[in-house]
Order: sequence, then structure tokens, then C-alpha cells
Amino acid sequence: MKKELSKSAGPIGVFDSGYGGLTILDQIKQTMPEYDYIYLGDNARTPYGTRSFEIVYEFTLQAVNKLFEMGCQLVILACNTASAKALRSIQINDLPGIDPNRRVLGVIRPTVECIGDITHSRHVGVLATSGTIKSQSYPLEIHKLYPDIVVSGEACPMWVPLVENQEYDSPGADYFVKKHLDSLLTKDPEIDTIILGCTHYPLLLSKINKYLPKGIKVISQGEYVATSLKSYLRRHPEMDGLCTKNGSCKFLTTESEIKFSDSASTFLNTEIVVERVVIE
Ligand code: DGL
Repeated sequence: MKKELSKSAGPIGVFDSGYGGLTILDQIKQTMPEYDYIYLGDNARTPYGTRSFEIVYEFTLQAVNKLFEMGCQLVILACNTASAKALRSIQINDLPGIDPNRRVLGVIRPTVECIGDITHSRHVGVLATSGTIKSQSYPLEIHKLYPDIVVSGEACPMWVPLVENQEYDSPGADYFVKKHLDSLLTKDPEIDTIILGCTHYPLLLSKINKYLPKGIKVISQGEYVATSLKSYLRRHPEMDGLCTKNGSCKFLTTESEIKFSDSASTFLNTEIVVERVVIE
């Protein structure tokens, strides 16, 4: 049965398929510490990167509805795969029926906006999950703003499991990081800017920097998403007024609480309290 949604102000919801969105949440909290947040990780059903459009859309909509039920008026899809495969459908098809005043925003557009000023060669690479690369969301969004930029994508299906299994500092990670960087730069040797189009990848940054030729700039999206959200709330005072500001942060997971808090500390460097929820 459909639950009655509250019209009052609430926390900002941050959703990811698992832990990766914590890298985005961390940056958002640093930029806007005064707001309240609820983070929801669908850890029981992660990864999304290899799933079909229909399933990513279905799971993401369920998560968004859960965050709405918990009082969020604004939800950030801090997951590239969900942003690529579900955001537009939710905005266009679902939000008007759920509550036309609520908002769901993604991470691809804010990441893409910055690159026009960063790339000099006008050749950009995108490293992401298979789902995000196949969706073509990055080239499509980049070309809306900068039609002259040449975009090459590389799917890195082993990178999320390396991070989820805490192997991002291991010698095994060297092999897979080098393999995909080499493959991307073979596709286009003129690339001077690489977007990390997956929320897990910032944890592989030291390995990425080890194998990347000098002079190539790497874009980690957290800071761009955080700056863009701050500017969005400044431009939309009606939405800002619907976001409570007590500096709190609540964590929800669809998997076991212990598993989440153990792994989350890798991403956040701090102990957290987490609650298990069912989303359907
Ligand atoms: N968080 C997802 C993203 O940014 C990656 C993890 C997954 O495959 O679920 O694309």
C-alpha cells in the first residue's frame, strides 16, 4: 500500500547501490556540514553495474521511494549506474505522480559540467562500470555541453569487486588498474582528462596515479557533485527550505548492519551507526 508522504522539511537522501556513494556523501558533508543526511546503500543487491536497465530502474525507484517515506524531499543518486539507467525515467515518469515538489538528482551532469574548462586536448576518457559505459550517458551528457570533445569509455568490471573486497591496495589491483588504463589510452592516446565515472574508483586513486602517464588529469566526482549541490540549493531556495539543518547523518543498508559498518569505515575513516531496512 502507498504510504502518505510528509510535506515537511527533511534530510537530504543519498543513495548508492552499496558503499561507493559514501565517497560522494563524504564530500557533500564536508562542503555542507549543516544539513541532515540519510545514506541508503542497497548492499544486499549490489553490484548494479552489471544489471539490466529494467532492474537498475526498479531497484533505484524502490530506494528513492524509501527515502521519500523517511522524509527526504531531495534525493541524490550517488551512483553512476543508477544515474545513467534510472534517473531520467524517475524524473519524467515517476516524480510527477509521487510528488511533483520533490527532486531526484544524479551525479553525471555535475561531473561533466567541469570538464570543458579542464581538457586542453579536447579528448576525454571515462572509466566506469559496464552498465554506465553501455548506457552512453557520459558521451551524451558531455556532447550536450561540449560537442567538440572526443569521448572514449572503458568498462572496468573488476574495479568495484576489488574495492568491495578491500583489495584496492593489493598487487592484484595493480594488474587490473594498469590493464584498463592501458586499454583506454590505446583507444585514444590524445586523452588528457580522465573521469572516474564510478563512486568506488576514488579508492583506487593511488594505483591509478601510479600507472597514469604524467600530465593526465583525473576527475574524482565527489567534489564536483558537492559544489554543484550547494549551488543548486542556492538557486532553489524553495528546496533549500525543505532540507533540515541539524548536522546529522543516518546510515541505512539493505544488508547486515555489522557488514556495512565494518566496510563503511574504509570509505569514511570513522565509526558509524547503521540500521537495516527492507526496500521493495
Ligand atoms: N556505485 C556504482 C557506480 O557508481 C558502482 C557499483 C555497482 O556496480 O553497483 O556506478
